[in-house]
Amino acid sequence: MIFPRWTNLLGPVAVVTVIIGSLASIFVIWYWLSDNHLTVGYQPVQPIKYSHKLHVTDLGMDCRYCHTGAEVSPVAGVPSSDVCMGCHNLILPASPEIMKLKQYQESGMPVPWKRVHKLPEYAYFDHSVHINKGVGCVSCHGRVDQMAEVRQEQSLSMSWCLDCHKAPEKVLREKHLITAALTSMPNQIEQGKKLLESYHINTRIDCSACHR
Ligand code: HEC
Ligand code: HEC
Ligand code: HEC
Ligand code: HEC
Ligand code: HEC
Repeated sequence: MIFPRWTNLLGPVAVVTVIIGSLASIFVIWYWLSDNHLTVGYQPVQPIKYSHKLHVTDLGMDCRYCHTGAEVSPVAGVPSSDVCMGCHNLILPASPEIMKLKQYQESGMPVPWKRVHKLPEYAYFDHSVHINKGVGCVSCHGRVDQMAEVRQEQSLSMSWCLDCHKAPEKVLREKHLITAALTSMPNQIEQGKKLLESYHINTRIDCSACHR
């Protein structure tokens, strides 16, 4: 006998190990393929109780009043406290939340807003190309106009980007509707196909469009 009797156990042990191992990898693969690891629903508590619902829906402010970069640069940008205090020097200056804002303004420190949407560094994104080709904020950020606190609505995964790049007619809108809350236009596909032509849309799915 070359091997002692107990080595017979190695067979079943190996089989069980392989089964557990494959189940674990199936889970890991499923997990990465299903966008679950990406932070849909991420909604950090912000340092000041600023509400989009109040300022956009109740007061009727356009997104670009505060996010001035969206139309002209890769980054949409978050407004400085000067922009807020332009109104709040007069509106509710004694509110505790506005007093916090004023303290940041006077100290010269930016408000430490918590970032909600963030791509990994190796992926390239540009707001202005989308805004100027008729992709509305709502298509990527959801109904921010209804949010008291901003929440991430979309996975921002690569397959999410590609799904739209393969069929942009599903979301394209006229440019005057770029910040409008409506989630699609009447006859969306038909209208979208017209805009594909008039805006000369040519979406890319080659790797170097987003990985440079
Ligand atoms: C009065 C100024 C103001 C207006 C108007 C405004 N925002 Fe904002 N927005 C902010 C501030 C301040 C923050 C950062 C704090 C927060 O996340 O609530 C922010 C954050 C955001 C974020 C999250 C940024 C991140 O960290 O990922 C998105 C998305 C956004 N706004 C979209 C919009 C859209 C869409 C509109 C129009 C429907 C809009 N905003 C109108 C001031 C404004
Ligand atoms: C095609 C999808 C798309 C559209 C359209 C879009 N965004 Fe974004 N937005 C993103 C992605 C993706 C990020 C994360 C970017 C990153 O981390 O590089 C982001 C980040 C942001 C941020 C935080 C970072 C920054 O750029 O300042 C703000 C604020 C924002 N968006 C506001 C807006 C507003 C306002 C509009 C409409 C005028 C808009 N977005 C339209 C996809 C979009
Ligand atoms: C165009 C004018 C305007 C601008 C700009 C503006 N706000 Fe306001 N804000 C208002 C008005 C009006 C109200 C509601 C006042 C009321 O309830 O009577 C308000 C209410 C608020 C409140 C609630 C205060 C409370 O105690 O009820 C907060 C917090 C606030 N704003 C933060 C901000 C921040 C942060 C910014 C900049 C990102 C900003 N606002 C920009 C007009 C403005
Ligand atoms: C809802 C639709 C939609 C989504 C989602 C979307 N895009 Fe786009 N993207 C477009 C359209 C439309 C264009 C404009 C194409 C053109 O210039 O003709 C575009 C253009 C671009 C361009 C410019 C490419 C070039 O060089 O011409 C880049 C880069 C880009 N998108 C990256 C991204 C990334 C990264 C994501 C995901 C985080 C994303 N996009 C999500 C619709 C979308
Ligand atoms: C329209 C934009 C876009 C195009 C085109 C694109 N990617 Fe990506 N890619 C992304 C984004 C955004 C992420 C980050 C997603 C995340 O947060 O996990 C990503 C992530 C990745 C990752 C990291 C693993 C993962 O899936 O999270 C790899 C690898 C990758 N891309 C390879 C490619 C290759 C190869 C191509 C060409 C066949 C390609 N990408 C084309 C936007 C794009």
